[in-house]
Amino acid sequence: MSSVLITGANRGIGLEFVRQYAEDGWRVYACCRSPDSADDLKAIKGDIDIRALDVSDFDAVKALGGAIDDDLDVVVANAGLGGKDVGDLGAIDYDAFVNLLSVNSLGAVALLEAFLPHLKRAKGKFAAITSGLGSITKSTGFAPAYSTSKAALNMAMKSLAAQLAGEGVAVAPLHPGWVQTAMGGASAPTSPAESVAGLRRRIAEMPVSPSPKFLDFSGAELPW
Ligand SMILES: NC(=O)c1ccc[n+]([C@@H]2O[C@H](COP(=O)([O-])OP(=O)(O)OC[C@H]3O[C@@H](n4cnc5c(N)ncnc54)[C@H](OP(=O)(O)O)[C@@H]3O)[C@@H](O)[C@H]2O)c1
Repeated sequence: MSSVLITGANRGIGLEFVRQYAEDGWRVYACCRSPDSADDLKAIKGDIDIRALDVSDFDAVKALGGAIDDDLDVVVANAGLGGKDVGDLGAIDYDAFVNLLSVNSLGAVALLEAFLPHLKRAKGKFAAITSGLGSITKSTGFAPAYSTSKAALNMAMKSLAAQLAGEGVAVAPLHPGWVQTAMGGASAPTSPAESVAGLRRRIAEMPVSPSPKFLDFSGAELPW
């Protein structure tokens, strides 16, 4: 049986990842900050093991790695925050900015480090859910804090992909598109189901490569 671990699994894109992998018969480790109130997650049928995890608590991420014995075919670093709390130039809240970087950038690095043994055993794949706003080439000045956190995530994933290619572990960032979730809003053009179906195809096809491409859910390539 194939196994996947997903963070931010209680709502939005993460919840849809759980739904689709569980429906396909995968064993799913579904991580979220507050399992007690994760009613939508608990309602999904399948082989689902729900674990409490705040990805900005790096000790907890490491401890969870030690607590799970299974090999993992796929790890999805999906948990993420928007950048609204950081504020604009002239009134930047640096504690909020550090928290944004902890969740969106370092949280994925900690997850990869904690679950590297599981991925190595399975020759597995690590997908970090990034954003097109993390493209430095395409940056316009919109959402600078969030974009910075996703550009840092992209850099971390590209350089760690190069380090891990020799170990048979595939690593890449993937842009989910603009998706109808609390973060994306109701006017987004893409449903979570469509986005995640595409992301799962990208993960299934993800090559072990020292120089991964920056792809979106549809397979279109974005400039770094
Ligand atoms: N929706 C879009 O249009 C869009 C576009 C580009 C990229 N993305 C990316 O896609 C990913 C999923 O976003 P979404 O649209 O599904 O957003 P969402 O509906 O707002 O869900 C965000 C998820 O991240 C979790 N999370 C936040 N901080 C966390 C922390 N410290 N530890 C663990 N979990 C935490 C949330 O948990 P709580 O319920 O506990 O807050 C929630 O499960 C994010 O990385 C986001 O940046 C989304």
